[in-house]
Amino acid sequence: MVAIVVHGGAINPLDEKFNKGVSEAVETGIDLLLKGGSAVEAATEAIRVMEDNPIFNAGTGSWLNLKGEVEMDAIIVDGFSNKTGAVAAIKKVKNPILVARKVMEETDHILLVGDGATEFARHFGFREYDPATEERRRGWQELREKLMKGEQTSLLAYWSKISKFAKLGDTVGAVALDKDGRIAAGTSSGGFPMKLPGRVGDVPIINASTYAGPRCGVSLTGHGEVIMQNIVARNVAQLVENGLDPQAALTEAFTSVLRSLPSKGSGVLLGGVSLDFRGRVGGVRNTELMPHAYAVDSRKVVLNFGTILRV
Ligand code: GLY
Repeated sequence: MVAIVVHGGAINPLDEKFNKGVSEAVETGIDLLLKGGSAVEAATEAIRVMEDNPIFNAGTGSWLNLKGEVEMDAIIVDGFSNKTGAVAAIKKVKNPILVARKVMEETDHILLVGDGATEFARHFGFREYDPATEERRRGWQELREKLMKGEQTSLLAYWSKISKFAKLGDTVGAVALDKDGRIAAGTSSGGFPMKLPGRVGDVPIINASTYAGPRCGVSLTGHGEVIMQNIVARNVAQLVENGLDPQAALTEAFTSVLRSLPSKGSGVLLGGVSLDFRGRVGGVRNTELMPHAYAVDSRKVVLNFGTILRV
């Protein structure tokens, strides 16, 4: 059996454009798996396809930080070898997920950040590239003007303290299962719009956004500070290891986090996908948003199969 499940971020709608985007990612991944490719290869390539699609907040099309720069986070985890590679706040590269894979395969480290990550990428031939699109620059200008005027928007509501710095999104992920029963998971993000320069989200933090092990893999999206603080991906995996299927595990882990937050996490976005060694998939989010899709053993793509959690 081979399988792959992907998500396209908790702030993106389930419309034709995004459904096509996640379908292309699944098709790329499942094609590789059906040809005998590894789970790491399939998860990485599915994410690369979404990084190259400017509608997603990852790679090209990443949101800009408070200073108008793109800083990206990415991680890949090989559940078979138990190895991880990640980059945080990396700038001026096209595909952070490919750099993360190089960190996993070519170094004794797990996580490289900032200039060190960019220098590492150049050493391995990743050319200088500006991931900011015109659309994101316009979006940044609009948000900045609202911030300066003290106006609230749903995108800014998360940053209650950001306005004092103003004088001067979300994420994609994939989990794959290859013919040898190996599982890999990865996640990539431009982070949240208007984040402070240097802010690192949950994505490159192992066990926070992403987990892969012998029994299952998980990739999450949403408010990184909440996901990090609650090591949510590891909690989902633990529930699968305890016997739940991925759908039930995501539901239980998210419910527990949201119930622990003030107003049951009202205003907090949380979503994700999971896949276990039997090829069972899960997809849960606490919003109408988050395009997601999977395929098992064929190119037939199943779109937006998951459930919406209301706690
Ligand atoms: N989950 C993406 C972020 O908070 O950066």
